Amino acid sequence: MNKKKSESGFTGQLGFVLAAAGSAVGVGNIWRFPYLAAKDGGGLFILIYLILVVTFGFTLLTSDIAIGRKTKQSSIKAYETMKPGWGFLGKLTFLVPVLIMTYYAVIGGWITRYILVYVTGMMHAAAGDTFFSDFITSTTSPVIYSLFFMLLTAWIIYRGVQDGIEKISRIVMPILLVMIIGIAVYAMTLSYTSNGATRTGLDGLRVYLTVDLSGMTVQKFLQVMLDAMSQLFFSLSVSMGIMITYGSYVKNDVNLGKAVTQIEVFDTVVALLAGMMIIPSIYVFSGMAGMQAGPGLMFVSLPKVFDAMGTPGIFVGLAFFIMSAFAALTSCISVLEAITANCIQIFDKPRESVTKVLAVIYSIASVIVTLGYSIFYFDVTLPTGAHGQLLDVMDYISNSFLMPLISFLSAILIGWIVKPEWIIGEMERNGEKFRRKKLYAFMIKYIVPVIMMVLFLESAGFFN
Ligand code: PFF
Repeated sequence: MNKKKSESGFTGQLGFVLAAAGSAVGVGNIWRFPYLAAKDGGGLFILIYLILVVTFGFTLLTSDIAIGRKTKQSSIKAYETMKPGWGFLGKLTFLVPVLIMTYYAVIGGWITRYILVYVTGMMHAAAGDTFFSDFITSTTSPVIYSLFFMLLTAWIIYRGVQDGIEKISRIVMPILLVMIIGIAVYAMTLSYTSNGATRTGLDGLRVYLTVDLSGMTVQKFLQVMLDAMSQLFFSLSVSMGIMITYGSYVKNDVNLGKAVTQIEVFDTVVALLAGMMIIPSIYVFSGMAGMQAGPGLMFVSLPKVFDAMGTPGIFVGLAFFIMSAFAALTSCISVLEAITANCIQIFDKPRESVTKVLAVIYSIASVIVTLGYSIFYFDVTLPTGAHGQLLDVMDYISNSFLMPLISFLSAILIGWIVKPEWIIGEMERNGEKFRRKKLYAFMIKYIVPVIMMVLFLESAGFFN
């Protein structure tokens, strides 16, 4: 059993870092980060986000990965092993990927559809106002795309940690990085003249990076903080058992402190580059008005920008959606792996059978969520006041509601019950120095519990 376990882990530091970065870098970086940055005034959001990455992000990512490697278990058993009686936290954590998986392949399917748009010369049609809504509200095509994405994910999981997850991450992540740098640099060279005024990519970069405090109120500032904080959890895939599972596959001789830093840097650089490629492009072609595009940025505003670029737009659009599909795939894999690993441990069945059963269950779930925009359409008002469909409900429960609650409970467990030394010991397992250990202990004991409680109450609608 132990031998089998070690064979199925990551080969070493690089394989682990690329797989974990693959989980972290997803549609959150490419779609969510730029749209929040645009909404929250660029520079200020970025500044706050960067501060949160090196404090909260670092603390939560360190905790998850160290728990995984020390216990060598997935979330359900990990918490029970850490402290008997705390198994309930493992079960709660397990719920997050279980819910996210119902919709992540749906978004992956939408992205796949847009790859085909640029391959089949439909760039102009896709720039139409209703192209995206017509697509997601139809009853066959989005179902086929989400099933394709779902089964592709399941196939990689079926192949195992080294031959599936690590292999795909090693190929896809470097390509993704090169592509995103390429498109971001290209966005800098854009320029467009309308009504006698010329806007360039560099003007757009200025809009993106400038810290604009005009009209700032305490209320607005808090909103920016909350946006940055929830973006951070989602982006780093923390507090949902995923990094615990990946941590459990890491060899004991890997320097975890270094790995955590590398994952954070990878994730943050990709988010910053995504903003650098998207915000200036939208600014050049539609000015400040385009900045308020909101969640529709990726599927509605960007196709218009690619169309406005003319012929180069076909290649830029294609590269953009291929890159996004890579990002979504490696994240989707990590979500399904967290579920699979837990099920293997609970039911004591081989990976192959577990994957097959999960593939069936999640194919059905993906179809239902996809049809949440058509046959199963309903409109719900969430406690935050926002409106949504099935997909948004799943997203709300997993990300806005459960994640801060889990972070709060796990900070209490680590900070006050098993004590931070439990984690610090794992970080220094091979005699390496865990450089930010004072910051870690302070954050996990005092800051994380308080802020998570606030975030949880805000998500539950207490401040409305
Ligand atoms: N971290 C991924 C992103 O930024 O898109 C998203 C994600 C992956 C969220 C895995 C949740 C998850 F379980």
